[in-house]
Amino acid sequence: MTAFSPLQLPNGTTVANRIAKAAMEENLADAEQGPSAELLRLYQAWADGGAGLILTGNVMVDRRAMTGPGGVVLEDARQLDKFRQWARVSRSQGAQVWMQLNHPGRQMQASLGQQTVAPSPVSLQLGGMSKMFAEPKPMSEADIAELIQRFATAARLAEQAGFNGVQIHAAHGYLLSQFLSPLSNQRSDRWGGSLENRARLLVEVVKAVRAVVAPQFCVAVKLNSADFQRGGFDASDALKVVELLNELPVDLVELSGGSYEAPAMQGEARDGRTLAREAYFLEFAGEIAKSARMPVMVTGGIRRLPVVEQVLASGVAMAGIATALAIDPALPKRWQAGQATSPELAPITWKNKVFASLAYMAVVKFQLRQLSRGDHTNPGVSPLWALVLEQVKTLRRTKQYKRWMAN
Ligand SMILES: Cc1cc2nc3c(=O)[nH]c(=O)nc-3n(C[C@H](O)[C@H](O)[C@H](O)COP(=O)(O)O)c2cc1C
Repeated sequence: MTAFSPLQLPNGTTVANRIAKAAMEENLADAEQGPSAELLRLYQAWADGGAGLILTGNVMVDRRAMTGPGGVVLEDARQLDKFRQWARVSRSQGAQVWMQLNHPGRQMQASLGQQTVAPSPVSLQLGGMSKMFAEPKPMSEADIAELIQRFATAARLAEQAGFNGVQIHAAHGYLLSQFLSPLSNQRSDRWGGSLENRARLLVEVVKAVRAVVAPQFCVAVKLNSADFQRGGFDASDALKVVELLNELPVDLVELSGGSYEAPAMQGEARDGRTLAREAYFLEFAGEIAKSARMPVMVTGGIRRLPVVEQVLASGVAMAGIATALAIDPALPKRWQAGQATSPELAPITWKNKVFASLAYMAVVKFQLRQLSRGDHTNPGVSPLWALVLEQVKTLRRTKQYKRWMAN
């Protein structure tokens, strides 16, 4: 089996190869938080690039709960035509295209002016930047029921728009991941406490989504292999969650790790352990793949074809790639043509890990913007410059988002 062998999923869908473009928040929504022309141009580049699976950046299921002000929102059919175009462009060369659905929970900036909700009133701990995030309001039973329906509605709309599937984001410290972690979920009702209770929301979301889409529509989950925080969600918890998901019609589980508090998805664990420089979560993923009934995908640090092959040799079915595909969207095609390219960013070695992490994101988003304008990427861009630019854009988008909400 090679990186270019097809993969058959549990629901019968075939993915043309083993390379997935992992979700990257693009911050390219238009003035109505819908898919913009720039977003479509970016996805054309990935469609042409040859990845078998394209996961969109996270799409919000609730306009009041945004991972950032430039995010796409899908709540109702009002802007469905724009989503149809997004699906059509992304699928134009035969890739499977799945929309990632997300709710940020407590990982939402207070500057957006919305009420923050989460499983428990536990604030984010980000040192000097903690004040940028409000203390969350614990979700009521009614809030939880509404949330489950919102995921289902967004999935049904994604199917209507022509996407091939959805991925439910339960990683990186966002709302579903907050429910999974005993650090952020301190509830004593049926949504907290035991791992089974903490995983209940994810299980209910998967069931609700499945109930409203066709069997051939793919339903996937992105899960942390660990939070990389003492007392947090760990590898044995991840294994148990996968065992719970084994009982449901889930077509793929993607494994990542970390959160805003410990951005391990960028290869940096806050407790000081250094992760392997390439395919950070491979060891976990290989173990989990032994128990998973569905194919497993691992994402984080992959940028070379031999590493993709190492991933596949360990029993993991797909390799997810984000950063390297932001630098070179045609990477799968180049590899298939025999080129040994490995796009990479220079490491950002700033002492302040939170700033370093933000700068890293800003450098990657800089590449996405270049592609969205039809320009060449520039992986050598100064991280400081990219960060300043990103801050300015965020301020502008925040104003636009607030105007939209006010209307
Ligand atoms: C700019 C940027 C935006 C991201 N947005 C998302 C997202 O919306 N959803 C998600 O699950 N992961 C997101 N990620 C994480 C990636 O999917 C991936 O897990 C991580 O970057 C590690 O993979 P890589 O080393 O190939 O970049 C984002 C990463 C970057 C750099």
